[in-house]
Amino acid sequence: MHKSLLFSLFILLFAPLTTFSAAQPDFDFEELMEGVEFDLNEMQASISLEEPESAIELAERLEQAFAQMEAFFASWGYAEDAVLSTQQYQERARRVVELIKAGDYNKAYDVSVEFSDHCKACHDNYKPLPL
Ligand code: HEC
Repeated sequence: MHKSLLFSLFILLFAPLTTFSAAQPDFDFEELMEGVEFDLNEMQASISLEEPESAIELAERLEQAFAQMEAFFASWGYAEDAVLSTQQYQERARRVVELIKAGDYNKAYDVSVEFSDHCKACHDNYKPLPL
């Protein structure tokens, strides 16, 4: 049999299995979350100290972390609340950057505190991951 035909057959046979195992993250979820916790504390400190460069860098790193989490939960296809939560976190991170650029450190700090209000809902539903 032609090689590419064999390959197609292989894909047909194993594609459903591959989809099923998409529940596994291709990154260390716990390590990412610990980074989120650390970066959030650091970001709040940087905002308090009015250090725009580090605050913005940390906000952007948080945005990326939540984007990675969004893609992971979206791949499940049934965790809409988690997907929405991670999207709202990315919006909050962008808002922090905007406010810092506008020099409004008080508002930026308020938004950074809001980060902590929404950790629990997702943890209650999805922690620990069913892997
Ligand atoms: C959209 C879902 C979601 C959100 C939002 C979320 N987490 Fe998590 N978090 C998880 C999941 C799922 C785990 C468990 C990972 C595992 O089982 O490997 C976790 C684990 C953790 C851990 C690892 C240690 C532990 O307690 O098990 C820390 C620390 C953590 N999260 C911090 C936070 C903080 C701080 C926030 C809010 C700023 C937050 N998380 C928001 C989903 C989320």
